[in-house]
Amino acid sequence: MDGTLPFAVLISGRGSNMLALAAAAAQGLIQGRLAIVISDQPHAAGLAAARRLGLATAIVEPAQHADRAAFGHALTTLLEQQGAELVVLAGFMRILDAGFVRHWQGRLLNIHPSLLPAHRGLHTHRRVLEAGDPRHGCTVHFVTEELDAGPIVIQGRLAVKAGDTEETLSARVQQLEHIIYPRAVGWFAAGHLAWKDGVAMLDNRPLATPVIEDAQ
Ligand code: GRF
Repeated sequence: MDGTLPFAVLISGRGSNMLALAAAAAQGLIQGRLAIVISDQPHAAGLAAARRLGLATAIVEPAQHADRAAFGHALTTLLEQQGAELVVLAGFMRILDAGFVRHWQGRLLNIHPSLLPAHRGLHTHRRVLEAGDPRHGCTVHFVTEELDAGPIVIQGRLAVKAGDTEETLSARVQQLEHIIYPRAVGWFAAGHLAWKDGVAMLDNRPLATPVIEDAQ
């Protein structure tokens, strides 16, 4: 052990958050080592990008497992073989089974493109526009069995502007994601962020309200 936390990133698509995390670890902003990038999609662009960086990668295909629980079990086996001590979901478009979530409880983070608890689920940018929300953003949270509902750590927040579209919002939200996700993983790796009895703790204090990063 070199004193840095081995962590894994699970992706299904482009992997821009994974790349932001890899860069932060490489720069020493995260006291951690990206031990493996795992995808459920063999052709995920992020997988190719990870390989180009020389990162270890693996594919775990749901179709090759009998059910959700078997898929989760295969993921856990692989993660433990790689020594992962934190599992970071970054655009992983698959619901993980309760057994997986319980096994990794307190060591499993997700990023969601809305200001949770608003707009759980998909199509968040569209729903923000339809609802006329004045604000939007992204949330890093610990994962629990209820989708997009675990204890919140940090949110990136921006003002919705006249003329914003799903595309412009998505681009601005992603910029914030690339700031807040490395920050949260860095806190965890440095021992500042932890899970205690279902509560997110920062420096041994319960996070009563999320840390907020406002867009410049
Ligand atoms: C991000 O917007 C994240 O909030 C959501 O999926 C997207 C993943 O983007 N969960 P990328 O693959 O990291 O570029």
